[in-house]
Amino acid sequence: MKVLVIGNGGREHALAWKLLQSKKINKLVCVPGNGGTATMPGCENLPLAVDDFAGISEYAVNNDISLVIVGPEVPLAQGITDYLQNQGLMVFGPNKEGAQIEASKAWAKALMTEAGVPTAKSAVFTEAAPAKAYIQSEGAPIVIKADGLAAGKGVTVAETIAQAEAAIEAIFQGQFGSAGSSVVIEECLVGQEVSILALTDGLTIRPLLPAQDHKRVGESDTGENTGGMGAYAPAPIATPQLMARVQTEVLERTIHALQARGIDYRGILYAGLMISPDGDFRVLEFNCRFGDPETQVILPMLETPLEDLILACIEQRLEDMPPIAWKQGAAATVVAASGGYPGEYAKGKVITGLAAAETAGATVFHAGTKLNAAQEVVTDGGRVLNVTGLGENFQEALAQAYAGIENIQFAQMYYRRDIGYRVLG
Ligand code: AMP
Ligand code: GLY
Repeated sequence: MKVLVIGNGGREHALAWKLLQSKKINKLVCVPGNGGTATMPGCENLPLAVDDFAGISEYAVNNDISLVIVGPEVPLAQGITDYLQNQGLMVFGPNKEGAQIEASKAWAKALMTEAGVPTAKSAVFTEAAPAKAYIQSEGAPIVIKADGLAAGKGVTVAETIAQAEAAIEAIFQGQFGSAGSSVVIEECLVGQEVSILALTDGLTIRPLLPAQDHKRVGESDTGENTGGMGAYAPAPIATPQLMARVQTEVLERTIHALQARGIDYRGILYAGLMISPDGDFRVLEFNCRFGDPETQVILPMLETPLEDLILACIEQRLEDMPPIAWKQGAAATVVAASGGYPGEYAKGKVITGLAAAETAGATVFHAGTKLNAAQEVVTDGGRVLNVTGLGENFQEALAQAYAGIENIQFAQMYYRRDIGYRVLG
């Protein structure tokens, strides 16, 4: 099989790495890929934009691509799956209608309410004045969300009424363009977040290992929100009892509600949950794709061949698959970021020590990297590398990830030294 993976993050490098472990896959093409996918044996990059549907389709059709896997939400929300399927290609990722579950938070909230999925109390507004009146009546803290896709920046957890009103103003003044034509205002929940990624063929839905991500840039989970500074799996907070409830109250209800709307959803359904101190939970959001960096800790733990699961979803025979098999133990990943991220940061810094990190036992997934003219790996984004460790337990997995990252250097490199603190205690 020849497989094409769309995207350029650590998630896509991890997908390519996992798929290339299969004897059935002899070639992998990453669009546009990064420095890691450019240098991995068996993998090559194709320099096309993720929204160049015609270019991707032409390449895939002319090069006998048997399977296309879509990493990011933006092309899914733009309908890449529908487009490529119309050209006769096999695609993993929901169609445009299904991707609304991530692309419109108001749509997702309505679906959750209809389905009886536990979620935070909320209201939707298309104008500032009634939105502000609602904030006044509810009080702070309160959460303000731009409805559409905003590259992870559309949510403000407002501690005060003034912050909430400022967020409303900014959204309706066009801070996020058309993604902010409506806002969802939501009750502020407290607790621990957990990511439940599930595979579905539209009828059957099966969770992958639960993962936890560290969203804040600073140690002890302080400072600004980021795309994620580290992650680990399986998250112990997601007990078997909790996972059983998530299966019936979240995953199955959501798939049934999608079916009731006539939506044939095949791909990943990712539920972001908040688990309250008393162990109850609410869904914060749905994503229509693999999580980043969760994928970088889930896939190294997976024993069942990934392509078998993906094909079972596309061909709607997930029910007939044996239970998903996992390695014993744990995985953890630490993100090496460019100094300044999630604000301004420099690019083009030469990265050294990658081979030594692998020799120390870690697996290095590249995120914001590329090859420069001299074929050196250089930084090309805020989150640069995901240095991943595996072990019998979290101590070992984290020790391996940190032993790896200590070998790596680039100018202004930054990483958190406390990833996994909750599971080390
Ligand atoms: P979302 O894109 O909806 O997951 O929001 C991004 C982040 O904002 C989440 O991962 C949470 O950290 C935070 N968040 C979203 N909704 C809430 C809420 N209702 N209460 C508290 N924090 C929230
Ligand atoms: N790690 C959060 C996300 O993928 O949305």
